[in-house]
Amino acid sequence: MAVKIIKSVKEMQSFSSLALKDGKTIGFVPTMGYLHDGHISLLKKANETCDISIVSIFVNPTQFGPSEDFAKYPRDFERDKELLDANRCCIIFAPEAEEIYSKSFQTYVEVNKITKILEGVYRPEHFKGVTTIVAVLFNCVKPDYAFFGQKDAQQAAVIKRMVEDLKIDVKIQICPIIRESDGLAMSSRNIYLSEKERQDALVLSRSLSQGKDMILAGERNSGKIISVISENISKIASARMDYAAIVEEKSFEPAGSLEEGKNYYILIASRIGSTRLIDNILVSI
Ligand code: PAJ
Repeated sequence: MAVKIIKSVKEMQSFSSLALKDGKTIGFVPTMGYLHDGHISLLKKANETCDISIVSIFVNPTQFGPSEDFAKYPRDFERDKELLDANRCCIIFAPEAEEIYSKSFQTYVEVNKITKILEGVYRPEHFKGVTTIVAVLFNCVKPDYAFFGQKDAQQAAVIKRMVEDLKIDVKIQICPIIRESDGLAMSSRNIYLSEKERQDALVLSRSLSQGKDMILAGERNSGKIISVISENISKIASARMDYAAIVEEKSFEPAGSLEEGKNYYILIASRIGSTRLIDNILVSI
């Protein structure tokens, strides 16, 4: 069946209520559109796991800072629709901004601690916008399962925290990072990169692999790994690093010395030219 587009909150809620009453399970993939294989991998997982897959496309204004790229964020609804249709998406939920944020809107969801480090330092209001829209979308779509990418590992950890703290009845699944064949993590923002910057951007995935190799070869001092990564990035003229860090997988606590039996994310955020990119790798010791 061709994908169905729903724009109204009321219609989305009654569709989902009816589906749940019919005993169907709903798998949900929230996105901001301009879809690539990373997004589609989440849809595939939703299709495998649930009876009905719902993908939202909503460029959420509240998660962009005043000097960020909200206005120029890439949008192509027709292309997204074709891609979703071809990959067996059941419903696209694509509300207008006014449908979500009415003039009298004044309620926000905020996770406290893990939103203050890493991305939170450079994008102070970002996670408040993310948790608010994801909570709103959950109330519209009523999913049994929701699928997020490890690409935004801190976002996924923040959403998990919110779901646990607010006792939201949804299972969160985190899916692996989909990369281009040369290692660049897929991102809607890669389109901003020039040919030269696209090459320079490979320093992120290259440095993460090198960091992982150092850990697997026995390095336990996270400072040493971070120094190597920083040095790599400083050699690229177009790159300006915001942070490189190693955190414990579940708590997102920054790690000093790494311990056996634990999992860690190595994370990098860097500008390449004027484009801000993030990437990470999960390492099990
Ligand atoms: P967006 O950047 O469109 O990403 C939507 C989902 O796709 C997120 O869960 C993200 O982690 C995942 N994703 C992006 N690139 C990926 C890749 N290369 N491999 C695997 N998954 C990838 O993240 C957002 O939108 C927004 O913050 C949102 C959660 C929709 C709230 O507005």
